[in-house]
Amino acid sequence: MAALIEFRDVCKYYEMGDTVVKAVDHVSMQINRNEFVAIVGQSGSGKSTCMNIIGCLDVPTAGEYLLDGREVSGMKRDELAAVRNELLGFIFQQYNLLPKLTLQENVEVPLMYAGVKGKARHDRAMEVLRSVGLEDYIKHRPNELSGGQQQRVSIARALVNHPKVILADEPTGALDSRTGREVLGILQQLHKEGNTVVLITHDNSIAVQAERIIRLEDGHVVFDGRADDPDAMKTGDQLRAEGKLKAGASEPQKEPEEAAAEAEKEPEKGKEAMQ
Ligand SMILES: Nc1ncnc2c1ncn2[C@@H]1O[C@H](COP(=O)(O)OP(=O)(O)OP(=O)(O)O)[C@@H](O)[C@H]1O
Ligand SMILES: [Mg+2]
Repeated sequence: MAALIEFRDVCKYYEMGDTVVKAVDHVSMQINRNEFVAIVGQSGSGKSTCMNIIGCLDVPTAGEYLLDGREVSGMKRDELAAVRNELLGFIFQQYNLLPKLTLQENVEVPLMYAGVKGKARHDRAMEVLRSVGLEDYIKHRPNELSGGQQQRVSIARALVNHPKVILADEPTGALDSRTGREVLGILQQLHKEGNTVVLITHDNSIAVQAERIIRLEDGHVVFDGRADDPDAMKTGDQLRAEGKLKAGASEPQKEPEEAAAEAEKEPEKGKEAMQ
């Protein structure tokens, strides 16, 4: 079966004056249904950029992104919004709840966009709020709740439309460690129930809670494998020293045109860059 998420040589470059920031640089990966994957890396490694592309909040500069078999990279804003609402559920570090709405109304928002009306909308919102243990708080507003409770509301909101992928960007970042563990426990439970979960984190101790780890460094993938593989915790430098990293994986790769131009100037060096 085709992968649910597929990156083919995805790049996201930003022009900053005279320089180009390669936030994501030739990343290829596949995530299948029912996987629980952590995308891990230090600050600036490209995690949020990957998450924004996976979540159809942004499109790559180059390369292809297929979500559930659909080519998303060339879509326009309104098409991306439709795909987002249909296929994806988001959980953010800062919860992103609407402060003036009750919990129930917050959870109903994605259903409104999906055109679900009246009782069906109400019942579904209640069902997911119950599943995260917040049925007694439905009339409360977010600021009346603890951080952990607010994150559970945002999990309920992420689930309400039966998304194919649950995307969580540093979901425990604003929580104390015990509450963070509870939230991770909910994500693990969702995975056991058959959901596909993609968790973004800078924290190895959180990443190991997933089934698989994709480690980013400087916009490149340096490790992609089981979370219990000892190599999953190593840096690109360590893996390179052990000969386990494909050459150049965490070094800036040259664009074909750039390499060709250099080849003309410096034939020997250029040849290397082309290989
Ligand atoms: N809109 C932008 N314009 C210019 N550069 C950007 C932009 N967004 C990200 N970058 C750069 O791209 C690189 C990757 O950023 P990204 O936000 O993906 O990192 P991250 O792994 O999520 O980091 P953090 O853990 O701090 O959230 C960084 O060098 C960042 O400065
Ligand atoms: Mg980030």
